[in-house]
Amino acid sequence: MTALELIRAFAHDTAVGIVVTEVTIDPPGPIILYANPVFSRLVGRDLDQIIGQSPRFMQGKETREETLDIFHRALAGGKRFHGYLTNYRGDGTKYRAEIDCRPLCDTTGWIEGFVAFEREVIRRVGRPASGAAGRYEPVGESSDPLAGILQALSVFGEA
Ligand SMILES: Cc1cc2nc3c(=O)[nH]c(=O)nc-3n(C[C@H](O)[C@H](O)[C@H](O)COP(=O)(O)O)c2cc1C
Repeated sequence: MTALELIRAFAHDTAVGIVVTEVTIDPPGPIILYANPVFSRLVGRDLDQIIGQSPRFMQGKETREETLDIFHRALAGGKRFHGYLTNYRGDGTKYRAEIDCRPLCDTTGWIEGFVAFEREVIRRVGRPASGAAGRYEPVGESSDPLAGILQALSVFGEA
């Protein structure tokens, strides 16, 4: 079973949006191969408007270029990106997205695509409930059993 088949099988009913792309990141890539229904609701678009596009369709005026550069460098280097971007829905409304994006590796360690766990974040006030470090767990780790399964199967490669 490939990582993508595994994700297709388990990503239907998750708490967070899940989106998988091909490995090629130069435009028109990274082409979206799969998105789950939660992702479709999050970005306010039907799946047939999402599959085959690049995730750039969510960008707009307030999407920070600096963060996109960091994102781009992480993807180009086959590294994980965990960060926050302003995304735009189909109806033009914006939201703050927490994105935990990781390479998907085959059994030989070759990167064959990327998966992102995405959710809307509401600006938090004060300190995290647990731990004084002031950081929250990345969305791909905290709430999603699928991330645990993929981790156990080593499909994320190196973090
Ligand atoms: C799986 C995955 C999910 C992504 N999700 C988003 C997203 O929600 N919003 C966004 O602005 N960019 C997202 N991106 C990043 C863009 O596709 C692109 O890599 C980014 O714009 C930086 O590269 P560029 O400088 O070539 O545009 C995602 C990328 C991948 C691989």
